[in-house]
Amino acid sequence: MNFMIGLISVLLVGLSRAESLEDILPDPSWASLLESSSRGHLLAIGSGNNTCEAIYSCQDCNTARVCRPTVDGSFEVVQTIPCTTDRPFCDPASGSCVSWEPESCGGPDDFICLGNGKYPDIDCTKFHACLQYQSLTFQCAVPGETYNARTQTCEPKAPCGTFDCTSAQGRKVPHSLYSGYFAYCRQENAALVVDSCPGNYQLNITSQNCEPICQEEGILEDLADCHFYYKCTRIVVNKDLAYLQRERLRCPQGQAYSKKDFLCVDENNVENCTKL
Ligand SMILES: *[C@@H]1O[C@H](CO)[C@@H](O)[C@H](O)[C@H]1NC(C)=O
Ligand SMILES: *[C@@H]1O[C@H](CO)[C@@H](O)[C@H](O)[C@H]1NC(C)=O
Ligand SMILES: *[C@@H]1O[C@H](CO)[C@@H](O)[C@H](O)[C@H]1NC(C)=O
Repeated sequence: MNFMIGLISVLLVGLSRAESLEDILPDPSWASLLESSSRGHLLAIGSGNNTCEAIYSCQDCNTARVCRPTVDGSFEVVQTIPCTTDRPFCDPASGSCVSWEPESCGGPDDFICLGNGKYPDIDCTKFHACLQYQSLTFQCAVPGETYNARTQTCEPKAPCGTFDCTSAQGRKVPHSLYSGYFAYCRQENAALVVDSCPGNYQLNITSQNCEPICQEEGILEDLADCHFYYKCTRIVVNKDLAYLQRERLRCPQGQAYSKKDFLCVDENNVENCTKL
């Protein structure tokens, strides 16, 4: 438990007012800490490729495993062994439990924290919490529960989404359920970075940029200029064909778009909007 207390005191240093530890850390009744890193890297957990490649290796940062060779030259898991409190870390070099935190635990599938908040993992039973570029990886504590990025908790029967990195090496892919989040894929089934688009923007797979994307009829904020907004309108072509049209519209003179009111208001009442 000492490393956890040490980590929390490190995290408390330099916290901005807007973000608190309580906002980031989940209640232990629904999520348990799998791994922490103060180096700004999430340690290899939930990369989606857990193939055994040696007799003694690590299942994750806190679990060792023994695998045996098979006739076709690969390995199969014989047993996984959770590391204990006095030697909590699995050392990838030896596949044994050790008391010190290995420099790189589990190989090249590290995630990187880019901002504060919680981020879904490629594995829907896990998520990452980032604070001041330091990261914690959590596993939903109740078996069968998955992480819901909208409510930011683990829930029973929440749909299981993922980042599909198939044939997407070196590209960004949106989360299959939570389109504000995207992953930058380092290889098949491995995300290097999990990130989120600003405001209500979403990743456009074609342009590879965060853009206002119409999902339903309504209004979207224009992050580039507060005097503009986007209007999404459903255009019905015939009974089988309809699409969402996006228009960039300008607020009337002296007004700016208010994202909390979803309409144009006096520009003096819109925070952080430079007057024209
Ligand atoms: C997992 O990694 C090994 C070695 O890097 C590779 O041979 C194997 O095809 C990968 N499996 C999947 C499902 O990506
Ligand atoms: C995505 O980007 C492409 C290329 O810039 C563009 O043609 C397309 O309209 C965009 N899609 C949406 C939904 O905005
Ligand atoms: C306005 O800008 C400040 C400083 O950049 C920022 O802290 C604050 O959250 C912004 N307010 C809104 C409503 O975006």
